[in-house]
Amino acid sequence: MPKIPQNVRGARFTGWGTALGHKTVTNHDLSLTIDTNDEWIRERTGIHRRHIGGSTAELSVASGRDALAMAGIAPEQIDALVLATTTPDRTVPATSATVQNLLGLRCGAFDVNAACSGFVYALVNAHGLIAMGAEKVLVIGTDTLARITDWQDRNTAVLFADGSGAAVLEHTQGPGQLLGWDLDADGSAEDILFCDIGGNIQMDGKEVFRRAVRIMVDSAQKSMAHAGVQASDISLIVPHQANIRIISAACERLEIPMEKAAIVIDNTGNTSSASIPLALFDAADKGRLAPGDLVLLVGFGAGMTAASAVLEWGTQ
Ligand code: ACO
Repeated sequence: MPKIPQNVRGARFTGWGTALGHKTVTNHDLSLTIDTNDEWIRERTGIHRRHIGGSTAELSVASGRDALAMAGIAPEQIDALVLATTTPDRTVPATSATVQNLLGLRCGAFDVNAACSGFVYALVNAHGLIAMGAEKVLVIGTDTLARITDWQDRNTAVLFADGSGAAVLEHTQGPGQLLGWDLDADGSAEDILFCDIGGNIQMDGKEVFRRAVRIMVDSAQKSMAHAGVQASDISLIVPHQANIRIISAACERLEIPMEKAAIVIDNTGNTSSASIPLALFDAADKGRLAPGDLVLLVGFGAGMTAASAVLEWGTQ
């Protein structure tokens, strides 16, 4: 991937919001209907509970509205909406069109489907729009995986859930927050994780696990190299929340201590495109980030895709 050119129009987050599915489902709840148990799910995945319910548009509107309120800007000031989702409400039109209308935006809107790497793909695209002259872009990552999960399949039912995270990205004078980025895909691996139209998610969990660690590490290293930073410079790593053991193995290989990882998987499960913004903004809301901190976002997902970005934290 190319390095970011010098003097490009930069951007920073000025507001964010998050939303989770309306209904909480604990591991114990799942054990009443499928052959699983709380101890196995906690130990093998790190998940304690998850939240399901709501459409992709509903959750996107909830997180998007909060992001606009925090940024203190009116819907009509947004120049573009980029919605990362692998679970659109309809095949046509894009769910971003529905969200654009419900939020009262008056701008172009499009969906990005890069599975669990989606938010980072969308964020890099949003920075590109600002480099091309846009002033304010709304970036949302939302997935409603509950709707494509077979709740009788213990291989997948224990993992997936619904959520959304949104951010307002605004043009800033001076250097922007994005220091380095990487977007990858390997379509030859599509059969290890897929969902046919009208079907449920099918997954070779062991193979996904094995590849996930490798491609996360590879992508993160590329982004850090492009940003000109070392792993020891990173204050917070925000990995895709798929499995705590994948996160821990990736951190170990990157030589970033787990204490520097943003973790929400215990409460959210795997929310695909929403998982990185949910973890990032949870850390921000808890005061874990100070201006100037370097943040490494790194995701992987069906495709198989991978995506990472190094950000310098600091609102305008
Ligand atoms: N509850 C209880 N026992 C279970 C369950 C369950 N839900 N699932 C499997 N087991 C049993 C198995 O039958 C096996 O029993 P055995 O030893 O008697 O044969 C044992 O537990 C171990 O099974 P494994 O499949 O080896 O379990 P593993 O440790 O690999 O964990 C898991 C499975 C959690 C799916 C893991 O492989 C994983 O997380 N893979 C990555 C999945 C992922 O990240 N997917 C999302 C990608 S992102 C996207 O784009 C949506």
